[in-house]
Amino acid sequence: MSDPVIPVPPTAAKDTNCSASDYRDLYNHSLEKSERFWLDQADRLDWIKRPTVAGNWSYAPKVDIKWFEDGQLNACWNCVDRHAVATPDKTALIFEPDDPASDGRRFTYAQLKDEVARFANVMKTLGVARGDRVTIYMPMVPEAVFAMLACARIGAVHSVVFGGFSPHALRDRIEDCESDFLVTADIGKRGGKTVPLKQNVDAALSETPRVKSVLVVQVGDGSAAMTDGRDHWLHDVSAGVDNDCPCAPMEAEDPLFILYTSGSTGKPKGVLHTTGGYLLWTAMTFAYGFDHRDDDLFFCTADVGWITGHSYVAYGPLANGATQLIFEGVPNYPANDRFWQIVEKHGVTILYTAPTAIRALMADGDAPVKKHDRSSLRLLGTVGEPINPEAWRWYSDTVGEGRVPVVDTWWQTETGGIMLTTLPGAHDMKPGWAGLPMFGIEPLLVDNDGKPLEGAAEGNLCIRRSWPGQARTVYGNHARFEQTYFSTYEGLYFSGDGAKRDEHGYYRITGRVDDVLNVSGHRMGTAEIESALVLHPDVAEAAVVGFPHSVKGQGIYCYVTPNAGVDISEELEQTLRQHVRSEIGPVATPDHIHLTRALPKTRSGKIMRRILRKIAENETSSLGDTSTLADPEVVDALIAGRKGD
Ligand code: WTA
Repeated sequence: MSDPVIPVPPTAAKDTNCSASDYRDLYNHSLEKSERFWLDQADRLDWIKRPTVAGNWSYAPKVDIKWFEDGQLNACWNCVDRHAVATPDKTALIFEPDDPASDGRRFTYAQLKDEVARFANVMKTLGVARGDRVTIYMPMVPEAVFAMLACARIGAVHSVVFGGFSPHALRDRIEDCESDFLVTADIGKRGGKTVPLKQNVDAALSETPRVKSVLVVQVGDGSAAMTDGRDHWLHDVSAGVDNDCPCAPMEAEDPLFILYTSGSTGKPKGVLHTTGGYLLWTAMTFAYGFDHRDDDLFFCTADVGWITGHSYVAYGPLANGATQLIFEGVPNYPANDRFWQIVEKHGVTILYTAPTAIRALMADGDAPVKKHDRSSLRLLGTVGEPINPEAWRWYSDTVGEGRVPVVDTWWQTETGGIMLTTLPGAHDMKPGWAGLPMFGIEPLLVDNDGKPLEGAAEGNLCIRRSWPGQARTVYGNHARFEQTYFSTYEGLYFSGDGAKRDEHGYYRITGRVDDVLNVSGHRMGTAEIESALVLHPDVAEAAVVGFPHSVKGQGIYCYVTPNAGVDISEELEQTLRQHVRSEIGPVATPDHIHLTRALPKTRSGKIMRRILRKIAENETSSLGDTSTLADPEVVDALIAGRKGD
């Protein structure tokens, strides 16, 4: 527990809005006088009707979570209109295209309001009404954000599906949330490649009768096939609508969005967030977590298809009236200096990205970074997966020249926003350690029996009391919500992560303790990949585990038993790799497909995953007890045929 501590850089400490003693006072207040704290924090938002109560929640025997329940507000008003009134000429969005030679775009808050209001009117023209679920399957263009905010404006509930998901995955998500409307683009552009979004939509919709209207944003040449009566170009419909569209008054607990995420079992869950609590949580965590100033230029590299893109592209920055940059492309196109070139070109002050990107860029050395002026940067952040100290140091020393703070923010789709972090101007940093709890958050570590651990310890990371940004349910399946997060340790929210705590109360996330993988910061259930594999007619059985990967954090290792009579061949490996890509999407592409005639099982027929994990990790000297195996020779054969280096 004696990892080195890096002090707060002096300039960050001098200018901060929240010092170490401010943090302590506010944190204690947030727990001791929680109701008062949250009703005061609620002033960050414009309310149509101010709430008179903050939290009203229970984790047992039933899970029922409400925040600010008698308040009324509109999320779009808070992110757009109120700034269009107060600071109409301030830049809200800067769009940086995939190809640096193409034209970018910029929107002031006044322009953003016009765009979003017109988008909302277009949706109304197509029949979208309050409470309807709207699926958004978009590339990283400004219209993705407009579509989300337009839903919020009229009280529709968005469900953004990452543009890298396959038609099957899209279809499943459309059906699960019973969505009749879809917003997409003809194509997406990423890293110089074209993603055929509209074609994927057509393939998905050929398998479900649900969707009545598809709104298509033109990103490509406009040659996409359109189905009469169902598909509409945005530019056609918007030509006939005006940009005057009132913001619907919403109850604080009205749903704002659904976002699908993977768990250890079954299909992805539609995590549901509501309006008041989520918005306040993202607004507050953005303000403190990034120590936001009016003249910042915030660049979060996440796609809107993930929670980071919801909370720190769409809602958090805009609720604060910030200026932010959204980027269509990838870090290594057209060259591996793209991030730094963007930082220099626009004068980015805060960069928020994933450890995977940092590790990949680090592998290319310092030259691409040093080519560009990064003096505008005053804060660096990471999210999505554990960052190894080596990558942390490179980020801090090479990218940040050792003069800016680095924040390692731990949180989840289910938590809505940042839960553990150091505050930029307040806290010393410990590479690899996320840090301290955000206001109102009471983390605890428990052992496998649920016994709370005191002081410096390692255990399962739980949260004791509710916070406004907490997910309220799994769409259409509250029992699954209760079961997944609240049944392991009674009376606690269980994150699914393991963590360490040091003697100063800093937390370090050690990774998932369940069957969820984190590949390049993307969450994936091993069960999902297994289900995809066994759909293939040649496959009898599959078991998927993770293994450490130097860039992606974790890689995907699939053990597959083909049906009797099917040959084990390289060709089958390729076929199955392609099959998983087309079932789930390129994000789930297996690193290794290990074809085997048998899997290690107990005498009662249970697959021994512990052993499969060890083999994938190449830790074969510590396989542990194999005496309960039905056929110990299977293990030797697997070790001999292990994939990877
Ligand atoms: C992991 C992403 C270590 C963790 C915002 C969590 C992290 C899962 C960190 C949630 C971090 C996220 N350090 N691990 N700073 N941030 N994780 O829902 O395992 O896509 O449970 O939300 O990512 O992934 P999700």
